[in-house]
Amino acid sequence: MFNVNKLCLFSCLCIIVVIVLYFQTEIARLEENYRKLEFRLVQSHTESREFFPKSLERNDDDTVVIYNRVPKTGSTSFVGVAYDLCKRNNFKVLHINITANRHIMSLNNQYRFAQNVTKWHEVKPALYHGHMAFLNFDRLGTTSKPIFINLIRKPLDRLVSYYYFLRNGDNYRPHLVRKKHGDKMTFDECVERGQPDCDPNNMWLQVPFFCGHAAECWKPGSQWALEQAKHNLVTHYLLVGITEQMLDFITVLEATLPRFFRGATEYYLNSNKSHLRQTSSKIEPSILTIEKIQQSTIWKMENELYEFALEHFNFVKRKLLAKEANNVAQIYFYEKIRPK
Ligand SMILES: *[C@@H]1O[C@H](CO)[C@@H](O)[C@H](O)[C@H]1NC(C)=O
Ligand SMILES: *[C@@H]1O[C@H](CO)[C@@H](O)[C@H](O)[C@H]1NC(C)=O
Ligand SMILES: *[C@@H]1O[C@H](CO)[C@@H](O)[C@H](O)[C@H]1NC(C)=O
Repeated sequence: MFNVNKLCLFSCLCIIVVIVLYFQTEIARLEENYRKLEFRLVQSHTESREFFPKSLERNDDDTVVIYNRVPKTGSTSFVGVAYDLCKRNNFKVLHINITANRHIMSLNNQYRFAQNVTKWHEVKPALYHGHMAFLNFDRLGTTSKPIFINLIRKPLDRLVSYYYFLRNGDNYRPHLVRKKHGDKMTFDECVERGQPDCDPNNMWLQVPFFCGHAAECWKPGSQWALEQAKHNLVTHYLLVGITEQMLDFITVLEATLPRFFRGATEYYLNSNKSHLRQTSSKIEPSILTIEKIQQSTIWKMENELYEFALEHFNFVKRKLLAKEANNVAQIYFYEKIRPK
């Protein structure tokens, strides 16, 4: 008798526990649904045009992006995407042609360029591109500052690509006769004979491009220049992509600057821009050549910058593209806004 009672009590308790647990999970589920709805509401609010005051919209249309492209880093493919999108997304693309392809602007031109780029409202929003070293607008007394973006490539790949580009040109402008046209020496032979065209000092280009307009930037092997380049890369650039990961670069840009790059990822995937402009008859260097080049200080320093950029880019990319566990992209919103 007593035992039956005890059993009955135990089962009752069990049932109660099960019911409580059931309701608790149900409440948690509803709460989560509610939170998701709240997120969606906030998202749709921020996406709807009416929600933003007009002044903010105009701010977005004031944006100036500068892409100070390094030669032979896949920049033509990327710029091609911008040229193809500019009409659809309603922004302007301008090429900065610096005479004789100098990467350094004279001081008077730096000043004029900075004033012009920030004040020329008729062409805004605009993307400027050109082969010029990073220009720090802090020095130039402008009231607003542009957004810098860039791409970086494995230093030896870039040098080899440039070496053959000077000799064979590319499929972009196949009939243009290049500086070293007709020279049949391979990169391996060049390294073996210690010719100036494959001198590791020629790799000193991405460090000075990111370092800027100071004299020290252009001294091959300068430790200060390398540190400055790293510093600029993380403090003055919105985004620096990796040539080997062009698609991800475009995707991150689309998510961050949709005013310019809306639809860019899909466009890049479906167009043949990814194959545009390949250096003709490029011969991969031998293991021996690679080992020899990798012993040079310049390669080591340039590679250090590349690895630094790669790690930073992957970090940025992971934070952006990795969805939360429940497959909701990260958002943020304001709350507790006081006084009402
Ligand atoms: C820059 O301008 C010069 C002179 O007009 C022209 O010859 C050259 O092709 C231009 N550079 C590029 C990359 O278009
Ligand atoms: C900027 O430079 C361009 C080309 O020289 C010129 O047409 C334009 O008027 C300039 N804009 C400003 C605001 O100075
Ligand atoms: C690539 O694009 C160009 C220009 O849009 C076009 O003329 C060419 O046929 C395309 N090639 C392929 C393989 O799709």
